[in-house]
Amino acid sequence: MSRVTDTYPFTVVNASSDQLPTQGEVSWRSPSNIALVKYWGKKPIQIPANASISFTLSDAHTNTTTAYQLRKSQAPFLKFYFEGRDNPAFAVRIEKFLKSLFPIMPWIEHYSWTIKSENSFPHSSGIASSASSMSALALCLCDIENEILRQDTATFYKKASYIARLGSGSAARSVFPTLCSWGEHESIVSSSDLYGTLYEGHHPIFSSFHDDIAIVSKEEKSVSSSAGHSLMDNNIFASSRYKQASQHLRDLLSSLESGNLSSFGKIVEDEALTLHALMMCSDPSYVLMEPNTLDIIKRIRTFRKDTGRHIYFTLDAGPNVHILYPDQEKEPINDFIKSEIQPLCEDGRIINDHVGPGPIKL
Ligand code: DP6
Repeated sequence: MSRVTDTYPFTVVNASSDQLPTQGEVSWRSPSNIALVKYWGKKPIQIPANASISFTLSDAHTNTTTAYQLRKSQAPFLKFYFEGRDNPAFAVRIEKFLKSLFPIMPWIEHYSWTIKSENSFPHSSGIASSASSMSALALCLCDIENEILRQDTATFYKKASYIARLGSGSAARSVFPTLCSWGEHESIVSSSDLYGTLYEGHHPIFSSFHDDIAIVSKEEKSVSSSAGHSLMDNNIFASSRYKQASQHLRDLLSSLESGNLSSFGKIVEDEALTLHALMMCSDPSYVLMEPNTLDIIKRIRTFRKDTGRHIYFTLDAGPNVHILYPDQEKEPINDFIKSEIQPLCEDGRIINDHVGPGPIKL
């Protein structure tokens, strides 16, 4: 199946321009997320090679305002502003994304679009923004479609997750609060490759987990995630990886349910290191960790061993380290982060984030 319409499980709204609102504007805030079991490798179109699960974050988010007006013949299809300025590179990606949606949201074509987007985190912080930005835009589009075809809340979020996935796979997991899985897995009822599923079976300790992001480097990564996913097609370890991810998800779900922090931490760290190992043994091979990434990992492990504190790390596709710990232990862990981790960060930058309540309409 390689056409976007082949798997679309929702109603296609085929309204003519005289049935559509002439103009309007909607805004959504959507958070970033950090994967605990990683999505790495995919099939057409944006179907994950394995199921993943993530914490929804809070302070790292994107605000997107989408204004639309019935298109006059010469009017441009899209004007896109990122943090108040034209951004041609992002505009190309957004235009391509919007046009790819024509078969399932044909009404998009009838409008001229002015989209303004801004991140709560500094653009040059090395934090991936595709999950928050694509989910915020998907929520805006589904909200606009709701004007034409009213749908129940569950369908609204499912569809927003589906549309977000087409923009960026990990964005599928940003439309739900706290914990969200994406990808079919026998341990998660109603899990799907097409959209994220809210995971509610967790122990309450995870609802207030911290994620302090140690910014080791603000530079843009040398190999994009999309390029990294496609290198999995010829990675000799791919099939073992997909088996491992499935087992990791099964085991992680039982740690999440029981609140067993040690087994949670072991799986999450194994996932982070496997992700980077896969990059290192891709062809061509590449390394996204920096010397300070390893230094921070070692210090976290030593501090944990010495103090028995529940502090763990994960990485996404970059050098920055996500430091995960329960709210109950924040004081001693914050002291450790300040004295040992902060000096290893570029400009001493750490983004203090935590598990959050999901997107909101502005
Ligand atoms: C390592 O979602 O950024 O963060 O679907 O090509 O946009 P595209 O990739 P993307 O990949 C995320 C990779 C990851 C792991 C994860 O978030 O699960």
